[in-house]
Amino acid sequence: MAEIEEILEEVKKWAREAGELQRVNFRRRDLAIESKSNVTDLVTEIDKGSEEIITGHIRRKYPDHAILAEESGRNSKESDYLWVIDPLDGTNNYAQGLPIYCVSIGLRYRGETILGVVYAPYLDELFWATKDGGAYCNGERIEVGNERELNRCVLATGFPYDKGTHPLNNLEYVERIVPQLRGIRRMGAAAYDLCGVAMGILDGYWEMNLSPWDVEAGILIVKEAGGVVRSFRGDRGISIVAGNKSVVERIEENLQ
Ligand code: IPD
Ligand code: CA
Ligand code: CA
Ligand code: CA
Repeated sequence: MAEIEEILEEVKKWAREAGELQRVNFRRRDLAIESKSNVTDLVTEIDKGSEEIITGHIRRKYPDHAILAEESGRNSKESDYLWVIDPLDGTNNYAQGLPIYCVSIGLRYRGETILGVVYAPYLDELFWATKDGGAYCNGERIEVGNERELNRCVLATGFPYDKGTHPLNNLEYVERIVPQLRGIRRMGAAAYDLCGVAMGILDGYWEMNLSPWDVEAGILIVKEAGGVVRSFRGDRGISIVAGNKSVVERIEENLQ
């Protein structure tokens, strides 16, 4: 197995290649778009094309590795290595012509995330982190913000595709938390939300009902940027809170 720095350089290239496919097709009028679990849950030909680019590279370079990717699921390989891929995070934004969308690629070794790369093509921001190696955006070291009180914080959150009335659909929590904040944003791409926290342009983020590919790379990037991430896996997917330690505690107080 190649050294982690060597793998990282490859993964950055794959993320840029998939991102370039996304960028050149952005706002194309005849994009093929289908729905998945319900009419709000979309997949475009570019989600699929991006996934094919990334999984194709992995299959050629690391044929024994296991892969978990949003659009094609998990391959049947038994391996110490598992690639966790969201080929296009922010599909609703992408289909709508809104510019916040990204590629997210994480790598686990024996259950621990050792590498995360997120690329936002429209912004040309490439984020990465390796375990104990720090977090970067376009080559510059990044760090989480240092605000402590919610009334000085701008947080991000999100909502699941299933808009039913379950508490984990987040409506109650938004009602409780938003009045305490300086501002709230719904960026529409969980991986970018986490990178926003990692670089301190968002003070914190919480969301429920997420999948492993939404957060695999972003969690490592936040942690390596000095942040705290609490995540719980339940029946309805992954719930997550991210920020500096004090912001995470303040958010968690409201999620009891
Ligand atoms: C979605 C985005 C969104 C989040 C959803 C995710 P997708 O991922 O990350 O911000 O609120 O829960 O499913 O489907 O665009 O890859
Ligand atoms: Ca996603
Ligand atoms: Ca996706
Ligand atoms: Ca999706």
